[in-house]
Amino acid sequence: MSKQFDVVVIGGGPGGYIAAIRAAQLGLSAACIDEWKNAAGDPAPGGTCTNVGCIPSKALLQSSENYDQAAHHFADHGIGIGELSLDLKKLIARKDAVVKQNNDGILYLFKKNKVAFFHGRGSFVKAVDGGYEIAVAGAADETLHARQVIVATGSSPRQLPGVPFDEERILSNDGALRIAGVPKTLGVIGSGVIGLEMGSVWRRLGAEVTILEALPGLLGAADEAVAREALKLFTKQGLKLQFGVNITGVKVAKKGVTVAYTDAKGAAATLEVERLIVSIGRVPHTTGLNPEAVGLKLDERGAIVVDDECRTNLAGVWAVGDVVRGPMLAHKAEEEGVAVAERIAGQHGHVDFNTVPWVIYTSPEIAWVGQTEAQLKAAGRAVKTGQFPFMANGRARALGDTSGFVKFVADAQTDEILGVHIIGPFASELIAEAVVAMSFKASAEDIARICHAHPSLSEATKEAALAVDKRTLNL
Ligand code: FAD
Ligand code: NAI
Repeated sequence: MSKQFDVVVIGGGPGGYIAAIRAAQLGLSAACIDEWKNAAGDPAPGGTCTNVGCIPSKALLQSSENYDQAAHHFADHGIGIGELSLDLKKLIARKDAVVKQNNDGILYLFKKNKVAFFHGRGSFVKAVDGGYEIAVAGAADETLHARQVIVATGSSPRQLPGVPFDEERILSNDGALRIAGVPKTLGVIGSGVIGLEMGSVWRRLGAEVTILEALPGLLGAADEAVAREALKLFTKQGLKLQFGVNITGVKVAKKGVTVAYTDAKGAAATLEVERLIVSIGRVPHTTGLNPEAVGLKLDERGAIVVDDECRTNLAGVWAVGDVVRGPMLAHKAEEEGVAVAERIAGQHGHVDFNTVPWVIYTSPEIAWVGQTEAQLKAAGRAVKTGQFPFMANGRARALGDTSGFVKFVADAQTDEILGVHIIGPFASELIAEAVVAMSFKASAEDIARICHAHPSLSEATKEAALAVDKRTLNL
């Protein structure tokens, strides 16, 4: 006998667990199947984000930033700490504890919202009785049936052809989050978000980090002014970045890894490192889902094909998050999960893809929302810009962190904000104001006229908005 639900969600990452909770809030009977296990073999819902992504990487970024501050910046405040030491085992254990708190939090939320949780692998069996039969293979095998199925099976790291991850020498994001000792030398292939974040963690803890990137420059998706500033600051911090490289071979030995490549000028070169992180993007994950059983359509990348509202080619089957098109971000997955649950319940869920913020948690942080100046100009749009440096912001001076700036890009005629680009302290928090402003179709003048607390970093946002009209007050 199969267990009946209104909605079965396959995958308990941010897309899936949030969709299940929202469906339950709306009065639907909801189940969520997730197969992630922690080291003890216990259920660990939360997906990539909670287990080997957003949460653990931010825990390590914070710990390593604290270490870097103690090593290099406390003295500026007149604070002496004698000899600095690092207990890497404890630092990693703290990260694991933060992950566990989040896993347990999700299990609690399932109980609170009456979502039935099944630990195991979910796969399509057949279309039957106007819905779908889903098998769960886990500690106890189960068969579920629902008229509505939400697939949220996420993504996995892309490997370099012929160079499998062993998590010892060749590390994916998983291995990069639990290196047992700080390596003397660390190579990173790909200067995207993971390369920059994980490269920063291990550089701060003492590794010599070299990042090899295929593209000719840093952060092609960011505003050019931000990418230029980031390159300047990261290089000054000691990250070694090489662009325009072509990896020609990777050899793993007992004590290290040799990467052969050609540089931007086409000259052959090698890099010898103790360990190598490969962070060259992620691929949609549908292993074990058995989409063929019901004829669920995938594209050539292996992503589940969906329309703007996350409908697949099958009636009653939806897909959200990393396993579908669009940016691979936890908050994008969550928004899609909520919108789909609301659509199933007959409401009009909506995701505005133009106001999905991006954040890179380096130091300084980088965050943006909307389009870049170059993208808008290439599309023939007349724009005006305003920029304000944290150097001229009182709170940033008090923090001792004055790198970077806030930049606004607004429509030349209507003044509507089309993009906000920040590099600087707490950019991850500051970007929220820009997201709200763009969601309400605000103009730069709207932000310029709003009272911002003093002294606060958000005053740099107001000043950048004033700069659009060439009337900054503090510069
Ligand atoms: P996932 O989180 O991948 O969850 C999918 C879940 O489904 C997993 O638990 C998986 O085990 C389970 N599953 C898969 N197939 C089955 C099956 N057949 N049966 C049962 N269960 C199954 N994004 C941000 O927004 N901010 C960040 O700071 C950030 N940092 C990141 C750092 C790193 C190192 C990485 C790798 C990613 C980071 N991301 C970040 C991206 C973010 O983790 C993903 O966008 C997000 O996790 C996608 O959510 P999802 O629900 O689509 O998939
Ligand atoms: P990415 O797409 O951000 O960056 C991959 C980089 O690798 C690109 O710059 C690409 O040009 C380069 N590259 C690809 N193939 C290469 C090759 N053969 N040789 C050298 N360079 C090569 O992917 P990444 O860093 O793996 O992260 C995956 C995704 O996870 C991100 O796109 C993002 O969606 C998500 N993520 C989000 C974070 C956040 O929001 N703060 C943090 C970490 C990951």
